[in-house]
Amino acid sequence: ATQEALQSRECCPPWQGDGSACGARSGRGSCEDVSVSDQPDGPQYPFSGLDDREKWPLVFFNRTCQCTGNFMGFNCADCKFGYFGERCSERRESLRRNIFHLTRAERNRFVSYLNLAKQTLSSDYVVATGTYREMLNGSNPLFANVSIYDVFVWMHYYVSRNALLGGPGNVWANVDFAHWAPAFSPWHRVYLLHWEHEIRKLTGDTTFSIPYWDWRDAQGCDVCTDELMGSRSPLDPNLISPSSVFSSWKVNT
Ligand SMILES: *[C@@H]1O[C@H](CO)[C@@H](O)[C@H](O)[C@H]1NC(C)=O
Ligand SMILES: *[C@@H]1O[C@H](CO)[C@@H](O)[C@H](O)[C@H]1NC(C)=O
Ligand SMILES: *[C@@H]1O[C@H](CO)[C@@H](O)[C@H](O)[C@H]1NC(C)=O
Repeated sequence: ATQEALQSRECCPPWQGDGSACGARSGRGSCEDVSVSDQPDGPQYPFSGLDDREKWPLVFFNRTCQCTGNFMGFNCADCKFGYFGERCSERRESLRRNIFHLTRAERNRFVSYLNLAKQTLSSDYVVATGTYREMLNGSNPLFANVSIYDVFVWMHYYVSRNALLGGPGNVWANVDFAHWAPAFSPWHRVYLLHWEHEIRKLTGDTTFSIPYWDWRDAQGCDVCTDELMGSRSPLDPNLISPSSVFSSWKVNT
């Protein structure tokens, strides 16, 4: 996210293991032109060339790392989902468990991992705080450091936000790239896999997996306890209970 990278449109960072872009010297990947489908997004998206998210990531970058084999990530440092080990050759399955089947220690671990991610600045990602046009075509980078957790808050915001580039009075509200359409399930599944992946990297706990809440027969919010996602504050029903760690979380604006 530097001025140089934005102006050259190239994002091919070195892999720390050998210092070469995309770990090319170790056969992990190479820096390649990005190719994106030129099919229209659909009749509900009549605008074109107005929104930074169209033909992603071409507005920002047209050369990125393409990883070989089971390698993954912006510099091919990581393993594809489901693969582990130095050469990413070890296949392991993860189990999504019902949150109520976790032991007390596992529940505490889950909440403390989330809290750690919220408190730890990401060393890999920054988030855009302006549009490409506001960045004057790359000469004025507008990015902010955020926590690992907030990278994911931002991703969800960015995929769902209004399209603002139609000029004054031409805001495309309800244009959303992850909801109200068939992309909903695949987008959120990949999103959760990335989130889980970053929590594993942060904690070194490769056995961590995000549990699920089976709300089919729930009468209310039965995960809203101070042990899990936080109950209501007895003092103010609009707030989370002060006994929950989440009551100290701050919203970025
Ligand atoms: C990528 O962007 C750069 C900078 O704008 C441009 O010079 C180059 O031609 C582009 N490459 C491709 C493959 O479009
Ligand atoms: C940014 O690029 C667009 C399209 O190439 C051009 O029309 C505009 O003048 C550029 N703006 C700046 C600030 O360089
Ligand atoms: C983010 O933090 C890094 C490391 O502390 C620093 O070098 C960089 O300038 C910061 N970037 C922004 C956009 O504040």
